[in-house]
Amino acid sequence: MRIAVLVSGGGTNLQAIIDGVKDNTIKNTEICLVYSNNPKAYALTRAQEAGIDTAVISPKEFEKRDDFNEALFGLLTETAPDLIVLAGCLVVIPQKVVEAFRNRIINIHPSLIPSFCGTGYYGLGVHEKVLERGARVSGATVHFVDEGTDTGPIILQKPVMVRDDDTPETLQKRIMKEAEWKLLPMAINLIATGKVKVEDGKAVISGYDDEILPGLF
Ligand code: GRF
Repeated sequence: MRIAVLVSGGGTNLQAIIDGVKDNTIKNTEICLVYSNNPKAYALTRAQEAGIDTAVISPKEFEKRDDFNEALFGLLTETAPDLIVLAGCLVVIPQKVVEAFRNRIINIHPSLIPSFCGTGYYGLGVHEKVLERGARVSGATVHFVDEGTDTGPIILQKPVMVRDDDTPETLQKRIMKEAEWKLLPMAINLIATGKVKVEDGKAVISGYDDEILPGLF
């Protein structure tokens, strides 16, 4: 399976994917492209160090959003990956891309969807809102991407307990370490090994109860 990973920032989730491909916990998978909207993203350095092709297209290069969308669509259709992985990608994926790659785009979101998600819930802000609300549990979700924001079929989730002494930063870090860096490689491996399908708007994973769930904890 050839995957394109779309990033905007530090790329710790990308690193977890690179490591998983290398040590074969993600089977049958090659990263064919790392794309960033942000030329300064450290994720690009991680990709280059791993010998992976990179591409940068910034919306700032274009006067009209439609022209940026068209350029991103062109890059992705030309690369023609089997799966697109959004790993901390802050770009709103153009509808045309969602249509062309239906059920072939996944995203990692740092909360338990449908809580603390949707428009405006990204980055540290997600964890700030969890703490403001006094929630006792948060976590991460890997889901397929549809036309909405964080509304597509859920593939994997893992809870992480909130601590009284958490700051947005400590909670973000713990959710990454305990949930995101495990869930995203795991979801890619499940897709690469043909274990995930979408039925009636829900993701169905073969062997979930017996093989996958015990491995999450
Ligand atoms: C992660 O928290 C991810 O869930 C969110 O953005 C962050 C990206 O971190 N969508 P990194 O670039 O993978 O380190």
